[in-house]
Amino acid sequence: MKILLVGSGGREHALAWKISQSPLCEHLICAPGNAGICEIADCANIPADDIVGLIGLIQRESIDFVVVGPEAPLALGLVDALTEQGIASFGPTEAAAMLETSKAFTKDFCTRHDIPTARYDVFTELLDAKKYLGEMSAPYVIKADGLAAGKGVVIAESKAEAETELEEFFSGKFGDAGTCVVIEEFMTGFEISFFAISDGKSVLPLIEAQDHKRAFDGDKGPNTGGMGAYSPVPGFDQAMSKRVMTEIIIPTIEGMAKENAPFVGVLFAGLMMTGSGPKLIEYNVRFGDPECQLLMRRLDSDILEIFIAASQGKLKSLLAPKWNKNPVVNVVLAAKGYPGKYKKGTKIIGVDAANLLDGVQVFHAGTRRADDGSLQASGGRVLNITAEGKTIDQAVARAYSAIDEVIEWPDGFCRRDIAKQAL
Ligand code: AMP
Ligand code: GLY
Repeated sequence: MKILLVGSGGREHALAWKISQSPLCEHLICAPGNAGICEIADCANIPADDIVGLIGLIQRESIDFVVVGPEAPLALGLVDALTEQGIASFGPTEAAAMLETSKAFTKDFCTRHDIPTARYDVFTELLDAKKYLGEMSAPYVIKADGLAAGKGVVIAESKAEAETELEEFFSGKFGDAGTCVVIEEFMTGFEISFFAISDGKSVLPLIEAQDHKRAFDGDKGPNTGGMGAYSPVPGFDQAMSKRVMTEIIIPTIEGMAKENAPFVGVLFAGLMMTGSGPKLIEYNVRFGDPECQLLMRRLDSDILEIFIAASQGKLKSLLAPKWNKNPVVNVVLAAKGYPGKYKKGTKIIGVDAANLLDGVQVFHAGTRRADDGSLQASGGRVLNITAEGKTIDQAVARAYSAIDEVIEWPDGFCRRDIAKQAL
């Protein structure tokens, strides 16, 4: 089959790496891709959110199957447009993607289907929102309803701070995404990213990972797309996976089907493991990044076969996927200054040599090839150093020795404490 993969991050490099190993894949094209993806697939320079451009490419290249990595094209209805054209794809429709594109929709959906999540209310008027603070206690969790590039959540320590934040939300801090606001109860516990794949009716549990969202060690500094992750997460066992499936994931898939928006794709549940069990923080309708890189490294089955079965409503006919039990970590190398301002075009050396180290596999994110063939940074998050080990200590040591001893990129930085909680 001829496959198109949409996206350009570390998540997509890992997907491309895994898809290209499938016997079902004869030719892989990626739009727009990055320097790492270009080594294993043909890259077409069309942005992931250019729906018209992507459809033109798919028709010109007679693509058989489309896999969508990021949320933006899903939110813009790429899958709906492909279905109209009779092109098979893996990913949710625009209506099913509401689970990520509207936090208010998701919270109300949880209420309708009895899915455990933080107590909340939804506001479109500043005065009502401020009044509700009186019913809650600090810290106050305030969220923009719409997509805000991972920045639309504020945790305010005092009521005064929460009121100021609400004023900023309603005066357009997040554009339209912030004119509808969710205020919710603060939950304590540890966070897990849990993944499942659905064909709209049945649902296949995948595995869990733990992300590190803050820029600096010790969970300090601003929120980012994710600075590193590890999997498996000690303490998250088979029984907990079953509980998450029964209490959260299955009711969601059944609820979406009942509401005439059947969910086909990857469901990524951000969970808080609280004293009274797992509770949903948020849904995403795609793989996580940096989590996907770990899932692809641990998966011993054919990912493309799973995607195709899901798109055809035939997940039930598949055998359960096999997972490598060895721990894998992913340490993100980002450009100095990220998630704020950073330089582009700085030179990176040593990635090929790092890939020769035991257990190490580097996935590119924001990279490009310069005219002289050298590797350059072209984004905020730039490289993912993944490493497998017999133990989590070994995996961590391997990832950091690739970074410290082999890769040379003076303009980059990473967190030094990825997976520390697990050690
Ligand atoms: P979200 O984009 O909804 O995943 O929120 C971003 C981050 O804010 C989460 O990863 C949590 O660390 C934190 N967060 C969101 N909602 C809550 C909540 N209700 N209680 C505690 N922390 C939260
Ligand atoms: N790692 C979190 C995300 O992909 O949204």
